[in-house]
Amino acid sequence: LQTIFSGIQPTGVPHLGNYLGALQQWVKLQNGAAPDTTLLYSIVDLHAITVRENLAHRRRWKREMLATLLAIGLDPNRSIVYCQSESKLGLPDNADPLDELSTMKLKAGLFNYPVLQAADILLHRATHVPVGQDQQQHLEFARRCANSFNSHYGRTLIPPQTLLSPAKRIMSLDRPSLKMSKSHANPSSRILLTDSKSAIAKKIRAAVTDSTSGVSYDTINRPGVSNLVDIMFHITSSESDTVATTQHDLAHDLQDLSMRAFKERVTDAIDSHLAPMRDRYEAIITDRGSLLADVAAVGREKATASAAVTMERVREAVGLDTPW
Ligand code: TYM
Repeated sequence: LQTIFSGIQPTGVPHLGNYLGALQQWVKLQNGAAPDTTLLYSIVDLHAITVRENLAHRRRWKREMLATLLAIGLDPNRSIVYCQSESKLGLPDNADPLDELSTMKLKAGLFNYPVLQAADILLHRATHVPVGQDQQQHLEFARRCANSFNSHYGRTLIPPQTLLSPAKRIMSLDRPSLKMSKSHANPSSRILLTDSKSAIAKKIRAAVTDSTSGVSYDTINRPGVSNLVDIMFHITSSESDTVATTQHDLAHDLQDLSMRAFKERVTDAIDSHLAPMRDRYEAIITDRGSLLADVAAVGREKATASAAVTMERVREAVGLDTPW
């Protein structure tokens, strides 16, 4: 029995790195899952509190994230889509081996971050966690927490496996040696899922490439061009008319294009993939009814029920279940 679990911080509309590195996988896993597979996707608002922001932003961003998750194709009847802070959690602290924490070399303010992340994953009995590369270390920590707890109290928690996305690390458009990130100062370094075609075109036109002519895939010597090939490859990977089976094949098909023509092709590929999502997003976020509230309420209820199962097992394992 599989349980797929993952999370995303509600810090604005997700970018292409989030989408290709995680969200696109979430939808694929949902649509290809066996009927008895459980899927949970969490909007991790407690994690986002480490970012200093005003309350109005915080509230708005959560709605925007839920609307985005629906727009990209998560189905709340199939997947449990919920907000982290709305579903209670409370794994005992001794699930966290402190010596492991100190090896993470985290800044003091972020010290609890991996603990909270591990708690969510373990609380929902995740067997598989689809993420981008930057989350690997956190998942390793979650596995150690589970194993450490189990070695004290007997097999109770499930050490989760990492499902690394094929697009595990999408790079920044203006500095292709860095990963695409929400916190990067230059907004042109990332494409947001809600960007218009002209905004996408502008950012791709400005993307750093190089002066070698033609298109090729060489992540070491041509990081900027290769990142655009990666983006085009992964964004078209679910479309039926795709012929290229590797990034090298795709670059080969495009090899004679000028940089300008190549960038237009990349823009078209991104835009035609995002356009239907953009339309659905617009419809959802401007919905005057209670769509988002209803989805959030269902998610809250199901996630709370899922958590209760583990908490019961944990109480029993630890001996907190005194039969008064
Ligand atoms: P967050 O919100 O920073 O990112 C969400 C997902 O997007 C992936 N990602 C990328 N993938 C490829 N290329 C990039 N440039 C890129 N940037 C981001 C991330 O790997 C992630 O999968 N700590 C997590 C949220 C979290 C979580 C969890 C994830 C909290 N609890 C439990 C999994 C399971 C985070 O900050 O992701």
